[in-house]
Amino acid sequence: MLYIKYSVLIYLLSYNKLILVPAKIRHIQNKYLVHCMRVENIVSRIDLNLTPGPIEPPVDVKRTLLLKTISHRSPEFTELYHNIDKLYNKIVGLEHDGETIIMPGSGTLGIDSVFANIVSKDTKALVIDTGFFGQRLADLLSRYTRNIDVAKYPLGTVPDKNDILARIENGEYDIVALVHNETSTGTTIRYLEEIGRRVRHHGGYLVIDGVSSVGAEEIYFSKWEIDAIVTGSQKALAAPAGLSIVTLSNRIIDAFEEFRSKIDRIPYYMDLLEYIRCKREYGWVPTTPPVNVVYAFYKSLEKINNYGIQEYFELHKKRAEEIYRYAVEKGLEPFVNNPKWRSRSVAVFKVEKSTRIVDILRKTYGIQVSAGLGELNNKLIRIGIMGFIETTKVLKTINLIINIAGKKSSS
Ligand SMILES: Cc1ncc(COP(=O)(O)O)c(C=O)c1O
Repeated sequence: MLYIKYSVLIYLLSYNKLILVPAKIRHIQNKYLVHCMRVENIVSRIDLNLTPGPIEPPVDVKRTLLLKTISHRSPEFTELYHNIDKLYNKIVGLEHDGETIIMPGSGTLGIDSVFANIVSKDTKALVIDTGFFGQRLADLLSRYTRNIDVAKYPLGTVPDKNDILARIENGEYDIVALVHNETSTGTTIRYLEEIGRRVRHHGGYLVIDGVSSVGAEEIYFSKWEIDAIVTGSQKALAAPAGLSIVTLSNRIIDAFEEFRSKIDRIPYYMDLLEYIRCKREYGWVPTTPPVNVVYAFYKSLEKINNYGIQEYFELHKKRAEEIYRYAVEKGLEPFVNNPKWRSRSVAVFKVEKSTRIVDILRKTYGIQVSAGLGELNNKLIRIGIMGFIETTKVLKTINLIINIAGKKSSS
């Protein structure tokens, strides 16, 4: 490392003609630096990625990235898009009363776009905030309306259902927005059905950040009367990053025209009506998507469907239970006390000085996990447990965490 640093320094000094280095040496040095900076060399420092996303997709999913890149305005692409639509809608439980669109971008783009299409400065919104991404949701919304009530709950807890329902019951909210699975703390709200029913009863729209829940959790979009749910390709759907997937109810789509009469401007890239028009008319997306990531996403959805969607949910549930059970036995304390609300896509543990441990795991063992976010930064370790990740790898990592933290592990 020191050698590289010196080489860079000498290289820069000589490049700026501040020191004289013979051309031949400079040439060797240049080749060495180029070698060190190769993408393969940088990435291969990591053996195992156990962060809560982007996750490492299965090999057969990754392999599709190497397929020929075809035009995104071709019948073949339309066929891909059509099949993706069918497979994905089964995972989120959309039953012909809405539309799923794919946007080139990350999950945030989809959420931001939903707000851009339905929120005007008079819109009254309720945000349920259970952590970092709940705050992010309020931040996104605040770009469109200042009329927001944020219901903030202690980190690591899920709000009492009756408390949320009581807030909705006064009927003053046009929009209720929440994060289904709060990735920063590892809590999941598992009573969306009741929330959906009450929000719709009062004529509002339920918007859900499902970035780290779709795939890991049972979701019945139509039955639960959700109006918008957004996810990204890179988490529990086990594909590479690059796609934002937005599912909308017909009810919210039908109201788009009315919303737009009150909204000053909707950026073209975020205009959901344009995505829907292109999909319906041509089976395409309006702009160039990361075509090969679309293949990988398709492959992953196929894989999940072949595995069985219910079985895939069950895999996440059982695996999370086993991981928490093991960690507790070994002396790690889960951040979320009540097992009922613990996430099945990210396992979160209380670990003092966690950033140091995350660093050691990465540098010494080539394992990536995540520390806490925001105020919990140095207090938590978060392990991604999504997709087809093997449980044994997580258990071994837990042992390492315990050892590094100085606690005794019996295996
Ligand atoms: C719950 C949740 N919401 C939103 C995001 C942001 O998603 P993206 O990085 O795909 O934009 C994340 C990312 O980790 C997340 O976990």
